[in-house]
Amino acid sequence: MRTQVAIIGGGPSGLLLSQLLNRAGIATVVLERRDRAHVLSRIRAGVLEWGTVEMLRKAGVGARMDREGHVHQGCLLSSEGRMFRIDFHEACARQVMVYGQTEVTHDLYDAQDALGATILHGVGDVALHDLTSDAPFVTYTRDGAAARLDCDYIVGCDGFHGISRRSIPAEVRQEFEKVYPFGWLGILSQTPPAAEELIYAAHSRGFALASMRSPTLSRYYIQVPLSDRIEDWSDAAFWAELKSRLPEAVAQGIVTGPSIEKSIAPLRSFVSEPMRWGRLFLCGDAAHIVPPTGAKGLNLAVSDVHYLYEGLAAFYAKGDAEGLETYSQKALARVWKAMRFSWSMTTMLHHFPDFSAFDRRMQATELDLLESSPSARRVLAENYTGLPF
Ligand code: APR
Ligand code: PHB
Repeated sequence: MRTQVAIIGGGPSGLLLSQLLNRAGIATVVLERRDRAHVLSRIRAGVLEWGTVEMLRKAGVGARMDREGHVHQGCLLSSEGRMFRIDFHEACARQVMVYGQTEVTHDLYDAQDALGATILHGVGDVALHDLTSDAPFVTYTRDGAAARLDCDYIVGCDGFHGISRRSIPAEVRQEFEKVYPFGWLGILSQTPPAAEELIYAAHSRGFALASMRSPTLSRYYIQVPLSDRIEDWSDAAFWAELKSRLPEAVAQGIVTGPSIEKSIAPLRSFVSEPMRWGRLFLCGDAAHIVPPTGAKGLNLAVSDVHYLYEGLAAFYAKGDAEGLETYSQKALARVWKAMRFSWSMTTMLHHFPDFSAFDRRMQATELDLLESSPSARRVLAENYTGLPF
């Protein structure tokens, strides 16, 4: 088989890139290890930067998001009992869209089906070959048979555990990593949200986040030690702990109900450089991971896809390879700013077991600064709603 762009991984990065390329008349084949139901069962964050909203519209997948998503013009921060609002509109005239990543992935699959795109599921043993030649190719197995896909370019959209990043020689790759000493326990519940906007809550017992998917579907998280197991947390214990970390007035109004999903995720910041090696490009979680504080994961994948799409479209339309040559630098410049933001939000809001009294005063002072300084709020709002592509 032959295509122009071979895409490894059918998560949001791979599907969005494929969708944009197909609409520009560029042929793709997406190779995905899991089945579609599995990809769609993963629950991830639900806040879209405006640049992401515009990219989804440009890809022809914005209709349901525009109907069912909710525009938010601010968020709430709380510390022990105190709570204040960051008004994105006042601070930087921007806003975000609350719409689940699972729904985005769903919409992308529907749009790819409508275009008749080639997405092969259940693909195993994917290996990348001749990446620094003019004729790279991918080998894989499917239904017990070996297969080969020849192409012009390969894009690794296969997430943190994928094979693409590791196909770049170790002596070329530089990895930067910070692992945080805690995880997030999250639940989804068919209950009205705690407030109209998201609440990011710092507390001496640990961080909590009150988020939502719709007026009837809530998403909550609490910081937990990495040693905790999901079986240790009954729904009742979760609700009690959540309430203890939110301001009293908010806690009193929380509507509880059975969890319809419950999971623990570790927190990590990770970047692998470069994001291009010969004819291989990396996009999304294949190249970088952010902690969820600030909801940058999907948004960062979308900005990578933007830069790569522009580069590939210019190459196929005009033979102009400039955008492909500069992809890694452009993408990484934005990646590092989102790394800084998600690391600073994580550091400001969580309980770190090894923090000194001085460190804790610094955390409280960061929050004080945000509450009292419009300039500080503006920096947060610009980063939260999304830096320009
Ligand atoms: N071969 C084929 N497919 C693979 C392989 C492989 N060896 N390894 C992983 N995959 C697939 C996974 O099954 C998954 O569907 O690649 C896909 C990667 O998807 P994500 O992990 O969702 O990564 P990405 O598309 O970059 O999304 C970035 O979305 O999923 C979130 O946390 C993520 O918020 C981040 C954003
Ligand atoms: C979510 O709704 O799942 C969510 C929202 C904001 C975050 C992280 C997760 O920062």
